[in-house]
Order: sequence, then structure tokens, then C-alpha cells
Amino acid sequence: MAEKNRIDISGFDHRLRSVGIIMDGNGRWAKAHGLPRTEGHKAGAKSLRPVIECLSELGVTCVTLYAFSTENWKRPKEEVDGIMNLILSYLDRAKGMWEKYDVSIRFIGDKAPLPERLRERCTEIENLSRGRSRTVNVALNYGGRDEIVRAVNAAIKEGCDPITEADISRHLYTADQPEPDLIIRTGGDMRLSNFMIWQSAYSELYVTETLWPDFGREDTITAVEAFYKRKRRFGGLNPEEAN
Ligand code: IPE
Ligand code: IPE
Ligand code: MG
Repeated sequence: MAEKNRIDISGFDHRLRSVGIIMDGNGRWAKAHGLPRTEGHKAGAKSLRPVIECLSELGVTCVTLYAFSTENWKRPKEEVDGIMNLILSYLDRAKGMWEKYDVSIRFIGDKAPLPERLRERCTEIENLSRGRSRTVNVALNYGGRDEIVRAVNAAIKEGCDPITEADISRHLYTADQPEPDLIIRTGGDMRLSNFMIWQSAYSELYVTETLWPDFGREDTITAVEAFYKRKRRFGGLNPEEAN
């Protein structure tokens, strides 16, 4: 499997367990092809399977996909409705996927404002896919600031005084999961756009100009190779630096 993926990770002291993906560039892809933006989102959905498959082969146990942000409601209603319908139909079609890849699907974000059918589908899928060896988080109506505010309020309700970092971490949507080791952003913009702003404190960031609908297996391998070339210090020193 490693040979197929070109990467030999045996000599590395840090492992890639968790990957976040900011799947950006669908609109620009559609424009470049003379298509409406919704077609860009449809094309983007097709990138999901090969990327998730590849990451899973490379030993990644947790993938978080940024599908819709708390700020994306600012888009025209037609585009928002198109994205919601697309997610619903993708979830219907991808039914067998979590069994095949042994994946628990989790939706992170505030489900309350989502269309009722989508909300129900999300809950149903979460229940059906529970207890698998890997996790795919779908960040849907997700905002990092919103998540932190919720966590702080939950900690206050619990009576934490003062509130510690551990109290906040414990109340995040991703409380029981490893923080992302690597965050990949397609579409070239060098920002987080409110994605996992608490959990990304020490994530390695990888930005590629490639637009999400064009991002595939080879690009995933290239991103993972870049990750394994990074020196992670977490504020300390690497052994060779500490003489
Ligand atoms: C990302 O693609 C998908 C969502 C935000 C839902 P965009 O729609 O933001 O694509 P660009 O950035 O306009 O090209
Ligand atoms: C980030 O992309 C959100 C998702 C990929 C879902 P945006 O296109 O919304 O980010 P900005 O507006 O360029 O920061
Ligand atoms: Mg964008």
C-alpha cells in the first residue's frame, strides 16, 4: 500500500493521524469551465472519495471536511439551496461508504438552521455509522468562533471557574479526537476562514493553488509528502537542535 502511495513513513517520528481539508475553489472551477457555481460544487463532491480513500491508505484515522461555514449563508439563496441539496443527495448516494471504509461519519457545526430533511439525515447517518475505526467529520454550518463560544458557555454552565484550556477542549465538537496534524487548503488562499481555529494551534498548513474539483489522489500524496518534510517543534526544540 505504501509503495502504491510512494510514501515511506517508517523513519518519521511524527505521524499523520488527523487531516483537515478546506475544500475551496469550486466557484472558480465552475467559472473557468463556463458553468454555474452549483456545477462547481457538484464537481467538488466527486473529489471526496479518492481523497478520503488515499488518506485512509496512508494511515490517517480522522479527516475533517469543511463543507459549509457559518459565514457561507451570506451567499445567494440559490447557491445555498443548491449546496444543501447537493449534500443531501451525496449523503444518500454515499450510504455504503462508511461500511466499506470502516468510517464513522460525524457532523460538526450547528445543525439547527439546516433544512429539516438534511438535519434528520445527518442524525440518522451518525447513528448508523457509530463505532468504526476511522472518523470523517463533515463541518456543516461550522464556525470555529461559534464552536469556542459554545464550549465556553458549556464550561460556565458546568461551574468551571476559572475556565482552563482543558475545559474548552473538552466541550468542542471534536473533544474526543486528535487535533489536525495537517490542514490542506485548495484554491490558493492562505487563511483558515474560521476553520478549527482552536484545534489548529499547531497544525501544519499546506496550501495549493489547485482548485478543489481538480484535487485528487496524486495531490493528496504530494500534500502528505510535504507534511513529512516538516519539522514540528510545538514551541520546543528538535533533538538535533538541543545540543
Ligand atoms: C468552496 O468553494 C465551497 C464552499 C464554500 C461551500 P467556493 O464556492 O468558495 O469556491 P470559490 O472560492 O468561490 O472559487
Ligand atoms: C471556506 O471557503 C469555507 C469552505 C470551504 C466551506 P470560503 O470560500 O467560504 O472562504 P473565504 O470566503 O474565501 O474566506
Ligand atoms: Mg471560496
